[in-house]
Amino acid sequence: MKPVIYTLTVLAIILTLSQCKNSGSSREAQLASYDAEVYKVGEQLLQTYCVACHNPDMDLKNRLAPPMVAVKDHYLEVYDSEGQFIQQFIRMVQDPAVSETRMPNAVKKFGLMPKMPLSDDQLSAIATYVYHTDMENPQWLEHHYQQEQANYQQDLTKEEMKYLRQGKEYANQTQLVLAGNLKKAIAGKGIAGALTFCNQEAIALTDSMQTVLQVGLRRVSDLNRNPNNEADLDELAYIFQSKKRLANQEPIRPRFLNKAGKKVGYYPIMTIDLCLHCHGESGKDIEKSTIDHLTRLYPEDKAIGYNLNELRGIWVVGMNEID
Ligand code: HEC
Ligand code: HEC
Repeated sequence: MKPVIYTLTVLAIILTLSQCKNSGSSREAQLASYDAEVYKVGEQLLQTYCVACHNPDMDLKNRLAPPMVAVKDHYLEVYDSEGQFIQQFIRMVQDPAVSETRMPNAVKKFGLMPKMPLSDDQLSAIATYVYHTDMENPQWLEHHYQQEQANYQQDLTKEEMKYLRQGKEYANQTQLVLAGNLKKAIAGKGIAGALTFCNQEAIALTDSMQTVLQVGLRRVSDLNRNPNNEADLDELAYIFQSKKRLANQEPIRPRFLNKAGKKVGYYPIMTIDLCLHCHGESGKDIEKSTIDHLTRLYPEDKAIGYNLNELRGIWVVGMNEID
């Protein structure tokens, strides 16, 4: 058994004991209210971080992953106790591995699931929720759509709109500097030479733009090439929601957040022709010599296999208060 499950059990007992002396309600009721809390957290997390891919309503062609009900069924086939179900579920999401998969056909069809950087407790809440909830009942999905709509159609104040527009300027300016230098490098040294430029200069240039513009600037991705460009959880949620919208041919738009005392904007970065030389399909868009070079520089490169007009990543712009 994993420590998480112990933790939850111990927590449940502590919660129960601590409420015993001052309430007349039964132990069952207290446990039930504890469960309700875990379910709420689990449902929320599932909707924010998982459903964009594990969506049962997506038509077959646009699916990014099997629906969660299918995942649950496969796990129930093998693991009959709740403890085992939860333990394996958590293990797989924290560190997806081909050798451990319960869904080899899904891996073949969709590719391996990306690693989700959630904590043990968060994953335990999701697994508990999945285990105990009827995944086929569309009620939980309804909540999901409401939340998703609310997330996407943000009701921003005038002030927040101002930040979102300002952030876009910063992202555009930096993008122009990067693209200009990239084109110059390709014209002068070919793709292979330009690769060295991207490797040595992309982050340095972004950093110097930060200093010039006096804002925080990062370029991150769910499928990052440089390990330093890994998206965090909020960024991942935005990326997955946007990808799902693109798959449904719905428009995507930037997002505004108040985060750690900063005004933060997320701005999509889409692929164009030029990008495919280094981010497209290996062997077809990317030359063999480039692939070799990439593998040497980035042994854990995830940023290949893209087509045109796909979401390559996002700009994250963190701004201080404007007077
Ligand atoms: C970017 C898309 C994506 C997101 C987001 C995502 N998944 Fe997945 N997931 C997949 C794909 C694709 C598969 C099937 C391939 C595989 O099993 O790795 C999968 C498979 C799984 C499996 C079965 C693993 C196995 O092979 O046995 C579990 C469990 C799972 N996902 C849980 C989650 C949870 C929980 C979340 C949210 C925290 C989540 N996934 C978010 C794409 C995603
Ligand atoms: C000459 C090869 C090359 C071309 C062309 C290229 N890239 Fe990249 N790209 C790279 C390299 C190398 C990195 C890693 C940079 C680093 O180490 O900081 C990278 C990183 C990125 C990142 C940061 C996230 C990550 O994966 O690390 C984004 C976003 C990105 N590229 C988008 C694009 C887009 C959009 C285009 C087309 C306009 C493009 N790239 C064209 C080589 C290239």
